[in-house]
Amino acid sequence: MKKLFIDTLGCQMNKSDTERIIGMLSHFDYIVTEDEKDADLYIVNTCAIRQLSADKAYSRLGAWGKIKAEQKKKGRDVKIAIAGCVAQLEKENLLKKFPYLDLVFGSQYLYELPNLLKEIEEKRVCATDNFNAQEKEYNILRTKSVNAWLPIMEGCNNFCSYCVVPYTRGRERSRSVEAIINEAKKIIREGFKEITLLGQNVDSYGKTLEGKPTFAYLLKELDKLEGDFRIRFTTSYPTDITDEVIETVKNSSKICECFHIPMQSGNDRILHEMNRRYNVKEYSSIVKKIRENIKDVTITSDFIAGFPGETDEEFYDTIKAIDELELDYSNTAAYSPRPNTKAGKMTDKFIPEEVKKQRLQILNDKVKEMSLKSNKKYVGKTMQILIDDVKEGVYQGRTRNNKVVHVKGEFKIGDFVDVEITHVSTWCLFANKK
Ligand code: SAH
Ligand code: SF4
Ligand code: F3S
Repeated sequence: MKKLFIDTLGCQMNKSDTERIIGMLSHFDYIVTEDEKDADLYIVNTCAIRQLSADKAYSRLGAWGKIKAEQKKKGRDVKIAIAGCVAQLEKENLLKKFPYLDLVFGSQYLYELPNLLKEIEEKRVCATDNFNAQEKEYNILRTKSVNAWLPIMEGCNNFCSYCVVPYTRGRERSRSVEAIINEAKKIIREGFKEITLLGQNVDSYGKTLEGKPTFAYLLKELDKLEGDFRIRFTTSYPTDITDEVIETVKNSSKICECFHIPMQSGNDRILHEMNRRYNVKEYSSIVKKIRENIKDVTITSDFIAGFPGETDEEFYDTIKAIDELELDYSNTAAYSPRPNTKAGKMTDKFIPEEVKKQRLQILNDKVKEMSLKSNKKYVGKTMQILIDDVKEGVYQGRTRNNKVVHVKGEFKIGDFVDVEITHVSTWCLFANKK
């Protein structure tokens, strides 16, 4: 058996890819080790969304380079590979920059990894051309929990001006309905209680497939599968959410009542500069439509502070929008210039780091306030939770609308239980068993 040490940075899509890598390599005599000092193969699965994420990947490589040199003295040849979005973005440059690096492979080469590992016995390899390695039937060694990731589409055609994803994940492509349904059935058979459908833009599902099955159709097919499980999905592009998707979530018993709909900014000029295809009014009307149709729905977002040229006034439009829309939660980030992107070239309009930091702090404070306000709506209510963890005798579960709940009592991981919410904090709810 050979030992694999793998580190995963970035979004759920990367976590899902890592599960596939581990599962696939288990067919080739690799087992995962937690001991960073003692592995035969090191892989960092990277994220390029912000410079900070890319830098994290580079620091992993640096540390492994040292281990490799030490092992070499002992006559052991360890291999180092970089996967994911930074690999796809930086390509051969990485081989030049890191002399001890053996393999660079993009996400489109994931299923080629066993062959690539043979190739690096002879020479250093960069596999980042535009290519889509055929999906192969391997076990997926999913992280043990109640939730399983299920990618349905990958890539993005939107080219928001700040975003590097279209250059790392490539153009939009969808997996077939059949492949997704089969994987979902397997997930349910393996005992998982929740499936999260993943895509950079789930509402674009099916556009590249024959017959153009829609996302709503896929949701309905998954909802029909037998078993006691929940379905979630992420991420939705605001103006691509169809009425049929809203109807489907409303009428389904398994699909959970939450939408992650990144708004990015609450100012029309900035949205236009970001190349987002909606304005504040259009975003608001989607949120309104979802709220009118789906009871107790959670709507979350992403916002960027300090996009090039953003004035104080424009920034405060974002704060105002969060308030008015009563968003339940949001991810936040300070704008980070990315290679290849349109906004990355607006150097004369870059906002000073200090200002971005201040704006991010204000944004985070607003998000905290909104999260507490949203949680308070549920005090005194009975909600179903799915138990997913236990710490020091206190169990943790999630409601259908994705709120974290702490509850005392005796449960099993994977139980669905009805609880009564007694009180709340900014990030979670506390409950008693009904
Ligand atoms: N497909 C999703 C977002 C994927 S990237 C969508 O369309 O909304 C996840 C989040 O990272 C984005 O929503 C954005 O808020 C943030 N992000 C992307 N590029 C960024 C950059 N250059 N600087 C800061 N944050 C960024
Ligand atoms: Fe990036 Fe925009 Fe595509 Fe989302 S929709 S992945 S933010 S380009
Ligand atoms: Fe990061 Fe790539 Fe995901 S850039 S956010 S790991 S798609």
